[in-house]
Amino acid sequence: TSLRDEASKKDILIGSGAINPTYLNDLEFAAVLANQFNSLSPENEMKWTFINPTKGHYNWDTIDRLVDFAEANNIVVKGHGLISSCCNPDFLLNITQPAAFYAAMKTHFEAIMHRYDSKINRWDVVTEALKTQGGGLNNNTFSQVLGPGYIADAFRIARAAGPDARLFINENLVESLPGKRQELYNLVSKLVAEGVPIDGVALQMHVTEVAPEPGVIAEMVNSYKTLGLEVSIAEMDVHTLDNALETDIYGAVISEALDAGITDISFWGFTDKHAYTWVPGAQPLMFDQSYKPKSEFYATHAAL
Ligand code: XIL
Repeated sequence: TSLRDEASKKDILIGSGAINPTYLNDLEFAAVLANQFNSLSPENEMKWTFINPTKGHYNWDTIDRLVDFAEANNIVVKGHGLISSCCNPDFLLNITQPAAFYAAMKTHFEAIMHRYDSKINRWDVVTEALKTQGGGLNNNTFSQVLGPGYIADAFRIARAAGPDARLFINENLVESLPGKRQELYNLVSKLVAEGVPIDGVALQMHVTEVAPEPGVIAEMVNSYKTLGLEVSIAEMDVHTLDNALETDIYGAVISEALDAGITDISFWGFTDKHAYTWVPGAQPLMFDQSYKPKSEFYATHAAL
């Protein structure tokens, strides 16, 4: 059976992120995606400069194609990411006046969320708000112009633009860095206390050699649950050439996530084929370069 068959029985979303719609030209890629996953998200194509490179101009075709493919194959789409740590267009970077910057953010969110209103019901609203190793907010154009309140602004704008959508803050490395994990918790609990409309925390789960300590995922799920929030896994891949270790990490992370009650799990792609993973050479995914399932696939399947 496929991953999606197993997941669907339990109402679990099992997804592949990092889907650049042009990859769908590769029919084998498209077939594995449709057969194995019931959820997908784009790679860079929805990031600001890619979808909206100049003021007022939107590249809808690329994401439309992804959404159409998803619909035809009964796959749900996740929006990624309204604010990302990279990829902002010059016209935005050139706005230094806070009110004008805020207005640009609102226009951008509304354009995208309204267009895909009936098709996309969960979004990474803010991605990588914190510095990679933790220790404060990332010094990005948003924090520079709007100050730390840009995160609350972003969620408020997103809720107004898509009242029924589930809104996530997406962060990396919190599963492996205790200090950063606490920092994210402090940030999110403050947002909740202030009434900021946020629904969940998306763990990227780009694992290097070191798997998250047993218990950490469950601990995060429980602590966010007490705030009324959901935890999801958004971008899992494992960057090690040690196949046995990688297989163990896939099995352990997916089992713990499911035991803890996570119902939305995505990987950052599915094939090690070099053109299709952001870490070519690391063989981080569940299928090899010829789309043959690896032991990582079987470990995941067994965990479902
Ligand atoms: C990555 C893409 O896969 C690369 O193509 C790009 O060069 C950089 O971004 N966390 C995220 C994703 O939220 O958007 C990133 O995607 C991987 C890390």
